[in-house]
Formats: sequence, structure tokens, C-alpha cells
Amino acid sequence: AGNKAWSGRFSEPVSDLVKRYTASVFFDKRMAEQDIRGSLAHARMLARQSIIGDKDLSDIERGMAQILDEIRAGAFEWSLDAEDVHLNIERRLTTLVGDAGKRLHTGRSRNDQVATDIRLWLRDAIDQILVLIADFQRNLLTLAEAHADTPLPGHTHLQIAQPVTFGHHLLAYFEMVQRDAERFRDTRRRTNRLPLGSAALAGTTFPIDRESVARELGFEAVCENSLDAVSDRDFAIEFCAAVALTMTHLSRLSEELILWMSPRFGFIDLADRFTTGSSIMPQKKNPDVPELVRGKTGRVNGHLVALLTLMKGQPLAYNKDNQEDKEPLFDAADTMIDTLRIYADMIPGIKVKAHNMREALKLGFATATDLADYLVKKGLPFRDAHEAVALAVRAAEVRNCDLSDFTLDELKASMAHVAGAAEKLSADVAAALTIEGSLAARNHIGGTAPEQVRAAIARARTRMSS
Ligand code: ARG
Repeated sequence: AGNKAWSGRFSEPVSDLVKRYTASVFFDKRMAEQDIRGSLAHARMLARQSIIGDKDLSDIERGMAQILDEIRAGAFEWSLDAEDVHLNIERRLTTLVGDAGKRLHTGRSRNDQVATDIRLWLRDAIDQILVLIADFQRNLLTLAEAHADTPLPGHTHLQIAQPVTFGHHLLAYFEMVQRDAERFRDTRRRTNRLPLGSAALAGTTFPIDRESVARELGFEAVCENSLDAVSDRDFAIEFCAAVALTMTHLSRLSEELILWMSPRFGFIDLADRFTTGSSIMPQKKNPDVPELVRGKTGRVNGHLVALLTLMKGQPLAYNKDNQEDKEPLFDAADTMIDTLRIYADMIPGIKVKAHNMREALKLGFATATDLADYLVKKGLPFRDAHEAVALAVRAAEVRNCDLSDFTLDELKASMAHVAGAAEKLSADVAAALTIEGSLAARNHIGGTAPEQVRAAIARARTRMSS
């Protein structure tokens, strides 16, 4: 049997291979609830406009209620013959309620129908993602608060640079995902427009009322242009871009967790439930979860490129190419949702090894900049101070000790070749060379001083609730 929805003009049915190649029901059936919501709003509008009768509408509503029950119970029989989610549901409706089911598609096309379904689906996915980002952020803030004073080696080029607090480091990720959340909210605004009423591409000859359908479905407005509405998927591309960026941020955090968990760093441990063992090496505890986040970031980057490539050569208006938008979009959303769920749970399970973080700080002359700043505050030009401290670091390297291990006289001797440097040093230099002194001194908005970290956490909480 051919596809009853359109087989009238054809003299032979499509082959089984073509049927399978062109069908989308196996992946677009997950938009079934959105499809029914859209159809009901369309049918109610048709009845209000007297395009179908009140009896037709009540038949459609009754049939759709049963179909929804069947789908939720897993009892709905999806058929490849009916091609996609839209025709499967319409065919079942017609079986259940007869002519009213056949009237549903008046003034509508699958082109505006599918565009509406995707937007409804994506809106829900974005709302879920926004809740999960907030969960993740709250857990990040709790951990940051517990470690507002905990010193960690800050790196540049993966070389020890300056002390930061672990709390400050975590807050960097708060900011990244805060911008990600803004991107999702922004994408949602542009997604939230109604394509229905555009019909196949040009609009319809029936006296439809698009605004009322938009209101019923919670869309902010209607799409202004029918050709644009049925053909562009820029909202899906934007969404994938927001996913790719969020995953990129989480991938960077994953890379850090993996490094920190390696005994070479030994800064943290992950809860056992986020790690796995080795089938050969009995001692192993591997950070598989962050590694997979890093790996799945490549996968969603691919989805973004797939959608951009899908769109770039399409003439207006709808082309079947667009059926290929769904699998990348769904997978990007699924990956994002699962990753955020996992991350929100993984953060509270991080065991911080503060002692190791502090020991690591002693290896890299992390307070050298503080010593230079000290000399500058005593009147030495910064470039001279930089040179003087570089000499002190070389002397410390020869002695295999930290700058803070020098006596005052030894420190003076180490920088004797820079005119005017040594005499600027006095006993108070010791405070500048401590980790705590270094941290506390960076006491301005955005700085790592524990006092500032606590203030930043308080502001972050207000920003989240506003
Ligand atoms: N399954 C199709 C899609 O996903 C629905 C729209 C099909 N329209 C058409 N004229 N073939 O895009």
C-alpha cells in the first residue's frame, strides 16, 4: 500500500528501501506530544473561524485524547508506511473519528506543522537546560564558598604562575556558564515564534487567525514571513552553538578535573560513582565521566557543523533536507541535558586535597610577582624590580629553596646587581612572600582575595535569583 496521504497522483508505490530512506518516524515520533498540542490549537482555531464545524472539533479532541493515551502507554502502533510522526497521528485520528480527522489538515501543511513541532520541542528542552545550569551553578557556589580561602596554584601555560583560591578558580566556571544560560535564554526568545499558518510556503486561502494559535501555544508572536517560517532552521543552529559552547566550558573543567585527579597533581578525588576501574590493573580509578564529557564535546561540535552545512545550500522554501535537522538537534539536547545532570551531581562529590594544593605552590616561586610589587611600592621602577626578583629566583633555584626560605640578608645579596633594589628590602618583606599575603593583597572586584571571593559568591547568588 502506498502512503494514503499523498499517493493519489502516483502510479506505483515507492520501494521498501526508499520508504525506509525517506521515513523519519523512528526519530521524529519523540515530538508526538508537541504535534498533538499544535494540531489541537490549529483545530480550535479552525472551529472558531467556522472553517470546520463544532462537531468536527469535538471529534478531533476526543480522538487526540485517546491517541495521547495510547502513545503514553506505549500502545501506539508507529508505522513506516505513514512516513513521519505527523502522518502517523493523522492516520490514527481518521481511523478513530472519520471525516473530522480528514478535515484537520485544512489550511495547514506538514511544512509549517513540523516547524511548529520542533520549536515547541526545543522550547521545552531549553527550559530544562536552564534549570539544570542553575543546579550546577548552585553546587559550584557551595563548593567555592567552602574553599574561599583554600590556596591553589594558578597556572598560565600550565606553569605555576600565582596563588589563587580554589573558590576563585571555581567562580571562573560560574561566569562561563552564566553566559551560556544567557545564550540559551536568547535563543529561546527567537525560537518562540509560531510558523503555523504559513502552510506549505505561501500561506493559505482560508480565513485563519494565527495570533490566537500563537497565544494558545504560548508563542510570543507569529513568524512574519511564510517562506522564512517553513524553511529556516537558524534557531536550531543557534541552539547547537549554545550547546557547543556550554560543552566546551564543561570540557575545559573536565580536563582540569582529570589533571587534578592524576597523582602528579593530586589536588582532588572524584566520588567513586563517577569513576571506573580497569579490567586488568586492579589499582585503577579512572575519571571516565569527565573524559566522556570532553569526548562528547567533539560530537556536539559535529552537530553544529552538520546543521550549518544542511542549511547553506537550500533554496527557499522547504526542502526535504530539513528532515535531517532532527537527529543532530535531539542528540545535542540529550547530550547537554545528561552532561549537566551529571555535572550538577559530580561537583558536590569532589574531595579537595588542600594540603597538596598548598605543597604544589611551593614548587613554582608563585609569590615572585608579589616580591616585585613590594619593591615597586618602595619606589623601584617595575622593570628594575622584575629583574631583581628574577635574580633572586635564580639564586633560589641554585639553592633549591623557595624565596621565603632566604634570610633578609640572603635576599638582599641575591639582587645586589640591580642598583637600588637591595636597600628597599626590610623585614616586612616576609609577609609579602607568604601565600596568604599574596592572596589577600589582590583585594579588588574580580581579584582572588578570600574577602573578594566571598563577595563575588554573594553577588552570584543575587544574579541567579534576579
Ligand atoms: N518529516 C518531514 C520533516 O521532518 C515533515 C515535513 C515534510 N514535508 C514534505 N512536504 N515532505 O521535515
